[in-house]
Amino acid sequence: MQKIAVIGAGTMGNGIAHVFAQHGFTVNLVDVSAPALDKALQTITRNLDRQVTKGSITEEVKAGTLANISLQTDLAAGVKDVYLVVEAATENISLKLKIFQDLDQHAPANAILATNTSSISITKIAAATKRPDKVIGMHFMNPVPVMKLVEIINGYATDKSITTAIVALSEKLEKVPCVVNDYPGFIANRILMPMINEAICSLFEGVAGVAEIDTVMKLGMAHPMGPLQLADFIGLDVCLSIMQVLHDGFGNPKYAPCPLLVNMVTAGYLGVKSGEGFYKYT
Ligand code: CAA
Repeated sequence: MQKIAVIGAGTMGNGIAHVFAQHGFTVNLVDVSAPALDKALQTITRNLDRQVTKGSITEEVKAGTLANISLQTDLAAGVKDVYLVVEAATENISLKLKIFQDLDQHAPANAILATNTSSISITKIAAATKRPDKVIGMHFMNPVPVMKLVEIINGYATDKSITTAIVALSEKLEKVPCVVNDYPGFIANRILMPMINEAICSLFEGVAGVAEIDTVMKLGMAHPMGPLQLADFIGLDVCLSIMQVLHDGFGNPKYAPCPLLVNMVTAGYLGVKSGEGFYKYT
């Protein structure tokens, strides 16, 4: 179980590669963009430096972690001899279906294919492969090196032995696995996103300002970030797409995305990644 591949070198992909490599796994980090891979390695190095400064890891662990990571732009070569693939590409269904068809073709026949999707149906992704019993959701939280949870999502056809293996693997990463079933938003985003959407609706309706809404939730409920700051951190486009998945999947108007969220995404105000959302980032 020592060699794995991570597909996608964005925020989640580099965090997932970091955590596996730090726990002794050999990781092929795969992305079509070579500059994205270089940027990911810089981010991992910066985050490891932060851990060294805090004293939570040594310089030797940092060096070992970096030595465990190989960068790869060719998907077929990156997955050809791995036990597990964790896909963390952009949250776009047609892209993910295509990636899973390719993974099915190029990864070893017994390899487990996991996806870090935050809301796309695991069952639908699994159906794009000839091994739906070996497809599972492995949903890490951002920032991956810090957050303890791995939400493990069983697709309709996921074999129990695969779930057991992924639970054990998550524990090896010093994470806390939680097994749930494949319905829209799973558990994390079925509960988190309506809260964020409600915070945006409260702002939209003029009930309170950005600072007040976030302060109420931070100081009143001991959340580390207020819901509007968290929305900026996650990306407003991601929040909108998850609300749309909940709305379409349950057909219930309580999941309708707030019109302010729709407007902000249309205007390109996506939060931290675009430089402005509910707050400004310089
Ligand atoms: N890598 C390594 N370590 C990191 C890090 C990173 N990327 N980011 C932060 N840290 C470490 C810091 O070094 C620090 O370590 P110590 O506790 O040892 O000092 C610790 O994390 C806290 O960091 P900071 O002091 O810099 O800042 P903070 O106290 O404000 O915490 C935070 C930052 C951990 C992000 C905190 O604000 C938080 O928990 N926010 C909420 C995060 C959250 O809800 N994530 C889930 C989002 S939803 C999702 O991911 C799934 C989805 O599908 C949308």
